[in-house]
This record gives sequence, C-alpha cells and structure tokens, in this order.
Amino acid sequence: MSELNKIFMTDQDRSAIENILNFSQDTGLNIKGGRIRRTSSRFCLGVEHGDYNGTELFGVGTDGFIWLAYKTNETEQVRLFSGNFPDEGVIEFKLSDVPEPQSEVIAETWARFPWGVDYILRREGIVLTQGIDAIVYGDIPGGGMSRSASLTLNLILSLLDANKIEIEDGFKIVDLAQAVENDYIGAPCGRLDQIMILFARQDMGVHYNPKTGLLNYVPLGAGAVDFRLVILDTGTERPGLEKSTYKIRRAECEELVGRIRQAGFEISCLADIKGQSLYKKILDQFYNSYPDLCDRMTYIFKAQQRFYEMLEAWKKGDIETVGSIFRADGLGLRDEYKISGAELETMCDIARQVPGVLGERMLGGGDKGACGALVRTDKVETLKKAVEIEYPRRHPEYSDKYDVHTCNMVDGVTLFNDVL
Ligand code: GLA
Repeated sequence: MSELNKIFMTDQDRSAIENILNFSQDTGLNIKGGRIRRTSSRFCLGVEHGDYNGTELFGVGTDGFIWLAYKTNETEQVRLFSGNFPDEGVIEFKLSDVPEPQSEVIAETWARFPWGVDYILRREGIVLTQGIDAIVYGDIPGGGMSRSASLTLNLILSLLDANKIEIEDGFKIVDLAQAVENDYIGAPCGRLDQIMILFARQDMGVHYNPKTGLLNYVPLGAGAVDFRLVILDTGTERPGLEKSTYKIRRAECEELVGRIRQAGFEISCLADIKGQSLYKKILDQFYNSYPDLCDRMTYIFKAQQRFYEMLEAWKKGDIETVGSIFRADGLGLRDEYKISGAELETMCDIARQVPGVLGERMLGGGDKGACGALVRTDKVETLKKAVEIEYPRRHPEYSDKYDVHTCNMVDGVTLFNDVL
C-alpha cells in the first residue's frame, strides 16, 4: 500500500481545499488542524470486467479525486458533509448505530458509504470508537472512474487513522472496501477499482495477478509517443451496479462456469479457459444452447490473450499497440460482452474517427458513464472539438452535461498534513 505524505499541492488541490474550507464555515464542522486525504480515480487498461472473471488486471491511478478533510471530535458521533451532495446537509450518526445492510433507507443517500464502513469494520472485529467531523469533496465523473471505491477507501483509511488503528496489509483494506459495496450497499463489484486506486503510483502501471496474489509496478517503456489519457464523460448518470446490466453479466458468467464444470471441465472461472483447444471444445459443446453466454466467454478469452500483448507493448513504450488493443477490447465489450450503452458508443464512434486517437472504449461498469481514450498529445484538442460538435447533436439531452477531461497518472492515496 502506498500512502504518501505530500507537502506540495497542485492548483486542483488548492481549489478543492478552498471549497472544503468554505463548506466547513457554512456547516460549522470543525476540521481546523485536521488532515486531508486525497484518493484518486482509476483507468483500467485491461481486462475490463475481468476482475470477477479471474483475469489479471492492469491500470493506473488518474487525477480525478476525492478529498476528505477530517478531525477527531472526541465523541462517538460522525458528522460529515459532502460538497457534491449539499442538499443532503450534514450526515450525522453514532458509531455502531447505523441502518441494517441493504435496508431501504440506505438506497437514496450517500450516507450509505460511511454507514457501510462503520458496519463492515465492526463486523470484521475492528471497532471504531472515535468520531470525526469531516468534509468530502470530489471531482470524479460519475460512472466508469470508480468514484464509489475512491470514497469508500478514503473513508476507511481516514476513520482508521482517526482511531489510531493500523492495518499494514493493503489487500485487507481492499477486501474491507469491497465488502462495504457488496455486503452493505449491495453493489456486486469486484476488486479492480480498489486495487488500482489503493496501490496506484505516479507514472506507473499496476499489474495484479489474482492467481499469485502478486502486484507489480510496470513503468511505461522509454521512447513512447507523447500521449494523454482522456476521459469522455457522456453526462449520463448510472444507477448503482446493482441496478445495471453489470449484475446480469456477472450472473451469466457464473452460470456458464457452473454449466461448464457440470460437464466435467475443471475450471473455476472464465479466465481459466486459456488455451485455444479448450476454448474451442467448450464453444462446440455449448454454443447452440447458450449463444449469449458463450459470447461473454469469447470476450474474456480474447481480451485475456490481448492483455499479455498489451502488457508487453506497454513495457516497450509501444503506445500505438496499447491503443489498438484498447480499441479491440472496446469492440468486444460492445459486441460480445454487450455491456456498453448508446451514449458511450456515440463517444467511441466520434473518437474513433479522429486521427491520432490510438484507442477508445467504455470504462468501468457499463451502460452509462464515461469512456476513455488514448490520444496523441498533439491531437487532444482535435478530439475535444470533434466531441463538442458531434456529441450534443446526437444527444441534445446531455448537451450541458457531457465533458472531456485529460488525465495524468498519479498516486492513488495522498495525505496532506498541516494545510488546515
Ligand atoms: C466496475 C466494478 C469493478 C469492475 C469494473 C469493470 O467498476 O466496480 O469491480 O468489475 O466495473 O471492469
């Protein structure tokens, strides 16, 4: 786990902190002398939808953030205000006194995240007794960039810190954060987002192998063409993963694994189907009865093969190949895994036409949200213009909501002391 202490701040930090100080004044929440923890978003380069199918993962931290400013308040009360949900006012609760998991009251409020953190930590024997006053503020677009994982990790790390509880093992933190979403909120996410954010390091790719449990930092090879990661936010809001196609796809993949196993093949997840002959055998046996489920398998099979090529290309600094694999993954997510959405595909279609865009695809859970693109730096403005002209024409309902952000590869977790 890498939690870095930072003394120096960017303009983005300064403006977030200014907002936070204003919110603190407006709400009367006392964070003076406290700390600020900043958690990133993430950009997955592969295998998207591979985490719950058992594949290896690769991605980077990106500079859409959540800042959480907090100070212990010497009581058992937690008081939080989110600058992103000001209408909800100050959320206040007593530690160990939170609604039951997945109860109706949690569905419509962002308080489900701090409630869930208290609940899951306690369930795991980590009892919080020290409350905090806190202000949260974020600039991560909704859908595709892991806003919920970033917030959950931040709350866990900050509440543990306020309670002087140390957990050395980063994967334990990952599991706790996933449990908040899976068990408390009911969002069936995997572990991709949490791993990519918690371990992200500036200008490095994070490579995770679930079979060995090992994590590797992979620098981009020298001589790579100058490129940027660009986020194409469609302006759509995605309801939680529990209400989306994501849940259906997960269930379909599990169903297929069950059927393949019943037929005597020894696999535990779709990622175990690696060799061409095994893949062909399964396809021959199951395609006629389960064509859709087999299409999901085909995406995972091919994306997994592309993954290793992508990793090699990254190491060599061959960003053109990384981009073309990213593009191929996008077509697979659209046509085989079938988890994209109309607005996402409009963005991809626009980007694909722009010379100098090396690859583009939907990001994250699917249906709605944001796409990503790998773009030659000197073509970023051309892409922005193309989106500006074409996207509102094709989706006028989102003409004042869509956005294009250019990202840097950053540390996942950063702590600011002495700025409040
Ligand atoms: C969402 C989930 C992740 C992962 C991605 C798709 O972001 O939270 O666990 O499955 O979708 O790669």
